[in-house]
Amino acid sequence: MKHLIDILDLSVGEIDELIELAESIIAHPENYRESCKYKKLATLFFEPSTRTRLSFEAAMLELGGSVLGFSEAQSSSASKGESVSDTVAVVSGYADIIAMRHPKEGAPLVASMHASVPVINAGDGGHNHPTQTLTDLLTIKREKGHFDHLTIGLCGDLKFGRTVHSLIAAMSRYADVRFYLISPEELKLPSYVKTAYIKDKKIPYIQTTSLESCISELDVLYMTRVQRERFFNEEDYIRLKDYFILTPEKMTLAKEDLCVMHPLPRVNEISTAVDSDPRACYFKQARYGKFIRMALILKLLEANA
Ligand code: CP
Repeated sequence: MKHLIDILDLSVGEIDELIELAESIIAHPENYRESCKYKKLATLFFEPSTRTRLSFEAAMLELGGSVLGFSEAQSSSASKGESVSDTVAVVSGYADIIAMRHPKEGAPLVASMHASVPVINAGDGGHNHPTQTLTDLLTIKREKGHFDHLTIGLCGDLKFGRTVHSLIAAMSRYADVRFYLISPEELKLPSYVKTAYIKDKKIPYIQTTSLESCISELDVLYMTRVQRERFFNEEDYIRLKDYFILTPEKMTLAKEDLCVMHPLPRVNEISTAVDSDPRACYFKQARYGKFIRMALILKLLEANA
């Protein structure tokens, strides 16, 4: 049984295959319209989502399949105390594949141990978000053409930003990559991520609190929102939420071919005045999410056929 719980469940070669399939779907969507006929995707979302849930659902519908599920814990029997393991054991009888988002780190892993169909981690707490990383990798491939020799700035909430943790793990496998870790002191990258994917792999990195000091060096700038829902007190959130704001003035310091990414949702960290800059890739990035999820659903159903 093949699941996707962590981006490193996929080899570099498997990621290349998924990207190739997503690009084929983008070029010829008509070839895939019946690929999942009679198959069902269950979206079990115990935490809010716009992009991940709706792009998974659009992906399955565009493959000719159907979707069922819930978008909040309150409308499921989790509100009556049902466990994740019981929930997926039951849903395995209703669907061919499950995408799960949960506020607790490790919940999708537990689900994968009790499901009889493939489980995809659609975001677990402040831990991982592997399908966002697949989306990010497809964006980088289409915008920069390659993964090697890139200087990547990760800016904002590097502590709770699960998309950042998964992206660093994925990018650490490519040659001649450098990271700028740009965050307030309180929202620095967790040491377990820094040790495993940067220090132990001897990847050059600079940790800084200033976006202006390094923006001119970057090939990719990955902005993130301060994760209000993971703060213990509102005062700290309010103090840190506008620490970084990407503006047209800051963009004048950047390379002409910088690729600005953001997993979205955005709050204040990118001024809307940046949206019309050709280097702003975040809405394209959200669109690519549907195609890479189509590729993932196809591959997982094929692997488990
Ligand atoms: N990027 C992302 O995970 O967005 P949602 O929370 O809207 O799914």
